Amino acid sequence: MSIEWRISSPDNWQADVLIWFGFEGEEAEASDLCADPPGALPWLRDCPALSDFKGKAKQISVAYGPADAKVARCILAGLGKRDKFDLNALRDAVVSAFRRCRDLKLVRVGLPLALFDSLPELGPEALKEALISGLLGLYSYDRYKTRDRNGADYEPACLLLTEEEPAAGKVPPDLAGEVEAIVEGVKLARDLTSGPGNDITPAQLLARAEELATRFDFKLQSFDLDQAAAMGMGAFVAVAKGSREPARFIVLEYAPEGCADERPIVLVGKGITFDTGGISLKPSAKMEAMKGDMAGAAAVLGTFNILGQLRPPRRVVGILPCTENMPDGKAYKPGDIVKSLAGLNIEVVNTDAEGRMILCDALAYGERYQPAAMIDIATLTGACIIALGDRVAGLLGNHDELRQTIRRIGDAVGERFWPLPLWDFYFDDIKSDCADFKNVGNRQAGTIIGAMFLKQFVAEETPWAHLDIAGPSWLEKDLMTTPKGATGFGVRTLFELVRRWK
Ligand code: BES
Ligand code: ZN
Ligand code: ZN
Repeated sequence: MSIEWRISSPDNWQADVLIWFGFEGEEAEASDLCADPPGALPWLRDCPALSDFKGKAKQISVAYGPADAKVARCILAGLGKRDKFDLNALRDAVVSAFRRCRDLKLVRVGLPLALFDSLPELGPEALKEALISGLLGLYSYDRYKTRDRNGADYEPACLLLTEEEPAAGKVPPDLAGEVEAIVEGVKLARDLTSGPGNDITPAQLLARAEELATRFDFKLQSFDLDQAAAMGMGAFVAVAKGSREPARFIVLEYAPEGCADERPIVLVGKGITFDTGGISLKPSAKMEAMKGDMAGAAAVLGTFNILGQLRPPRRVVGILPCTENMPDGKAYKPGDIVKSLAGLNIEVVNTDAEGRMILCDALAYGERYQPAAMIDIATLTGACIIALGDRVAGLLGNHDELRQTIRRIGDAVGERFWPLPLWDFYFDDIKSDCADFKNVGNRQAGTIIGAMFLKQFVAEETPWAHLDIAGPSWLEKDLMTTPKGATGFGVRTLFELVRRWK
């Protein structure tokens, strides 16, 4: 993948294909394509493909010009109805167009800047969002495919075509670098989440964190099971001790020059590399999906991948408790009482509620950094999928402004978050007869109870948000920017949150 500028008069533009958009119901007059097709395509006006094109959402027509034209193909991509048009419609159109380029093996893909100017009211971010979406829509996990690799190796070169240097403020200053970094970060999260449990082990997540630390000069610490036990992380250790695959508690730190002493933003990601449920064993149907129970940790690693490249001036700490959750002679059991790092005793009632067990020690550890804000991201509860479906993450926490910021950023980058309440009375459901509290309630309000448990480990004065991504971390259907499978959900929002932090 590459993104390059081509600044010259349109009759000198060269590309394998040029992408153009149109709205539905405006095809009667070809001049109603978004803006005038440029001088690069003098043949387009007379091309029959133009009248076949109806502009419907996701519709694609391919128009061919004379073989000796400098640009001999145009992909017309439908934006749907003008009055319904928004950033998501643009994203879908670009993904459809890029996928057709892949099918046709067209590598040099021309995108005229004038095209984006003519789109109604999307602002200077439209081109960036279009490129990011288009490239992410080409994603497929092909590491283990030795045959039928259809299109897996396709790498487009995006050519940004313009007559003159774009005016300041019209496009982000380092557009290409930004797009490439963000796409790489999301892809890293997708690759890790797609990866099977026998490959993406806690040791493997540490290896990836080490790669990032070396490449970008992050500080890295990691603790094994014995070290975690010696530190007092009884809840993390309880989950980890039932697994033969060695656990790792990973701490990554990005502290750019001048920021070393500021209060960091702490990002905590659930890193269960496989969740069997433990002694409270899950049913076998669909259990393979639990290889993705480290999507939170993957999202934090993806975010660090972007931080390393775009280097915003802000200190960030990433905490990744990583382990399997297995049934075993040494596994923790329902009824066990364990002492967490915070000193609070937890009665284990269900070993399948292991995410909150490892996260509570990570949050307590995060408090040591006196964070400016702490955000945890986790595939925590099936209940969140029941409540919100698989396109929306649950958003909980103790700080209205932080929650609003996350929602607003999420909307801008195409990640939906929806708030759930966290009233104090919910704590009643996890009261315990023999310890400080239990790790599950009854079956009601599962997502809220999970968050209520975590809240016990966050200082009242720490702005904290909990993102339950059990739904949107993995999709069973293709949603264009996010093809079927691992989505990398959360990476974009977490990065933007850091970048825009005041
Ligand atoms: N990893 C699961 C949650 C999950 C379910 C993620 C489906 C993605 C898809 C989590 O560890 C879990 O098992 N949660 C339990 C909690 C319950 C025991 C309170 C659940 O959701 O059933
Ligand atoms: Zn579980
Ligand atoms: Zn889990």
